[in-house]
Amino acid sequence: MTPEKQKKALDSWQTSARYWDKYRALIAQIFAPLTSGLVDEARIKTGQRVLDIGGGTGEPALTICSIVGPTGSVMYTDPVAGMLETTQTEAARRGVTNIHFTQCSADELPFADRSFDAAVGRLSAMFLVDPVKALREALRVIAEDGIVSFVVWGPKEANPFFSAVTDVIDRFVEVPPPEPDAPETFRFAAPGKLVRVLENAGAKNVIERRLNFQIEAPISFEQFWQLRTEMSGTLRDKMVRLMPTERPTVKHAVADAVRRYFVSGTMSFAAQALIVSGRKSAG
Ligand SMILES: C[S@@+](CC[C@H](N)C(=O)[O-])C[C@H]1O[C@@H](n2cnc3c(N)ncnc32)[C@H](O)[C@@H]1O
Repeated sequence: MTPEKQKKALDSWQTSARYWDKYRALIAQIFAPLTSGLVDEARIKTGQRVLDIGGGTGEPALTICSIVGPTGSVMYTDPVAGMLETTQTEAARRGVTNIHFTQCSADELPFADRSFDAAVGRLSAMFLVDPVKALREALRVIAEDGIVSFVVWGPKEANPFFSAVTDVIDRFVEVPPPEPDAPETFRFAAPGKLVRVLENAGAKNVIERRLNFQIEAPISFEQFWQLRTEMSGTLRDKMVRLMPTERPTVKHAVADAVRRYFVSGTMSFAAQALIVSGRKSAG
């Protein structure tokens, strides 16, 4: 990725920070199964020191703070100032004291070797500039018996929460063919792809687990539309490229496409994620 593209991507996350913060409670609810799956796979427990890579508006860091308790701690990291600031504010609001913050990219972690018991990332691995380098860094900073675990989205077709919207919008906006392996939501959707990256980074006993769950919340289509078109940088860009006269047509077509996922005042999309974990040392 060129430095200009990297800067553009981080600027987009900076804008996203305000919307992820705005929908904090709803996002926490709909993506909670990802956090639980990640915590289970990384075997997070009381007293551990855990590194969160690409912590965004604070998950899984804030959940893990309550699991590791006062004898443990979480190091939240993200390269985007806006993300870090919203999480600091939220942690202070909740009175969380076992969290620390470092603004950094996963490519260069400013921590000594073996500083943590585990390193985790929820929905961040796919946006890493150089995933092998970043995962090598994650392995460097965990203990010899430490675990790294990342959760990423499974295939687009298994995730209508995303595809039902983009499939419609892409009929109206010309979309350039994606560059191979570009940082994007479904970069690691192919089973085995993130496994190979983690193995190339030097991890041992790498395993991949498929997580099927429901993205569920008591919200209307209107609230869903607002959430999706605000929280995603890609969708925000596409919406801007629509002609103003096209926007109501697109929204109407999306409403038709997702109608079956909204029943009796509840949104419920089937979803699929992959949790990929590995150890620093075999055995
Ligand atoms: C989809 S968000 C996920 C945030 C959070 N973990 C969650 O699940 O709510 C992706 C996050 O990856 C971060 N990110 C982007 N590039 C990164 C990099 N090079 N290193 C670490 N994190 C990065 C973004 O700033 C953003 O906060």
